[in-house]
Amino acid sequence: MADFKINLSEKDIPQSWYNVAADLPFKLPPPINPGTGKPLKEDDLRPIFPLSLIKQEMSQERWIEIPDEVMDILTIWRPTALKRAVHLERALKTKCRIYYKDESASPTGSHKTNTAIAQVYYNKKEGIKRLTTETGAGQWGSALSFACNVFGLSCRVYMVKVSFEQKPFRKSLMRMWQAEVVASPSTLTESGKKILKEDPNCQGSLGIAISEAVEDAAKDKNTNYCLGSVLNHVLLHQTVIGLEAKKQLALADEVPDYLIGCVGGGSNFGGLIHPFVKDKLKNDNLKIIAVEPFACPSLTKGKYEYDFGDTASLTPLIKMFTLGHNFIPAGIHAGGLRYHGCSPLVSALHDKKIIEARAYNQIDVFKAAVLFAKTEGLVPAPETAHAIKAVIEIAKSEKKEKCIVFNFSGHGFLDLASYDKFFNGELKNYSHPLKEIRAALKSLPKV
Ligand SMILES: Cc1ncc(COP(=O)(O)O)c(C=O)c1O
Repeated sequence: MADFKINLSEKDIPQSWYNVAADLPFKLPPPINPGTGKPLKEDDLRPIFPLSLIKQEMSQERWIEIPDEVMDILTIWRPTALKRAVHLERALKTKCRIYYKDESASPTGSHKTNTAIAQVYYNKKEGIKRLTTETGAGQWGSALSFACNVFGLSCRVYMVKVSFEQKPFRKSLMRMWQAEVVASPSTLTESGKKILKEDPNCQGSLGIAISEAVEDAAKDKNTNYCLGSVLNHVLLHQTVIGLEAKKQLALADEVPDYLIGCVGGGSNFGGLIHPFVKDKLKNDNLKIIAVEPFACPSLTKGKYEYDFGDTASLTPLIKMFTLGHNFIPAGIHAGGLRYHGCSPLVSALHDKKIIEARAYNQIDVFKAAVLFAKTEGLVPAPETAHAIKAVIEIAKSEKKEKCIVFNFSGHGFLDLASYDKFFNGELKNYSHPLKEIRAALKSLPKV
């Protein structure tokens, strides 16, 4: 029998990131400058991004080499193990083999560190001194704080207010790495002030926090903005996950039948699945499944249209599955999945039916997480637990021996207050907010 933990050695860490855009049988709709109505140019992004990342964002090159300085830091936790969840399999009495790529092994507890290191490196190389960003649950904020600390840049994180209150220890982590953490919406930006004037009790959303961080960065030439998901270059940096997983599955003599990941902006999902898209194009038996919350169902209930990436309409227009940039999701505990849109790459794959999507409610997701923790010992982040819910459902219903692989995007050690709420019966379910989505979709910009 094959090993239950498939480890690679450090020489097996991918030397280049994989750009799926080079192999897609269709062209991605270009991002649009809302001012001109024309496709975005490199210069349009210069006020907030370094040129090297803008080039990656627009690149059609298949492979982009990972710089030595980035590799030096990635080696702290990469390669991550591919583990077989054999105790979960036994509990489910399934014939399926379930594997997970353990991205919780990164120093900050999730996959987000993979791109944080790369983004801060390129910003530093181009002379930037300070970075701003948004964070939902705090995983991305922690990852960027760590990376800024490694490369000696200052960092301000706009943290969605509901998570700021739900997850106090994420703030401690960010402070450990010397970042400044601000509850969003805040009074530090015009976007924040406007939203607070309309609704002083606003819980915040990723869309609002992005507006604040972009506005802050655009005001100062030494400050840039970093995004933890959605954009092509972010998903590019995450492809180390899928590239390693491919090698590990080959070592275990496995070919996946299912690839599964949770989706907020799409980065852990894209990171796992992009290196397998060519396989899917050749073999339709491979099922690739994106999992999202009922409370924020962009892929399952959104529209594939051009929309702003943020609430205050400061970003370029991107073609994506969106619930409307004004949509503010309910305060579910998977804060990293509370985004109104989705990566343009993942959206295009969904539009072309290369991937499928499912949505679940919060209580079922926590039940799945607890079963995983009881059997495998690891406590999943509430975001990751969405993928686990889908895995369990599929493993229970599959009558044949199938190979299921999912991305264990992060651990939930700093989400234990949410688990306590679940154990106390205090967690609420939210159904599809169809009325709110319909209203928010009315605000889609004309392109
Ligand atoms: C652990 C974890 N998984 C998943 C996500 C969702 O983001 P993405 O879709 O970019 O992977 C987040 C976002 O904060 C996260 O913290």
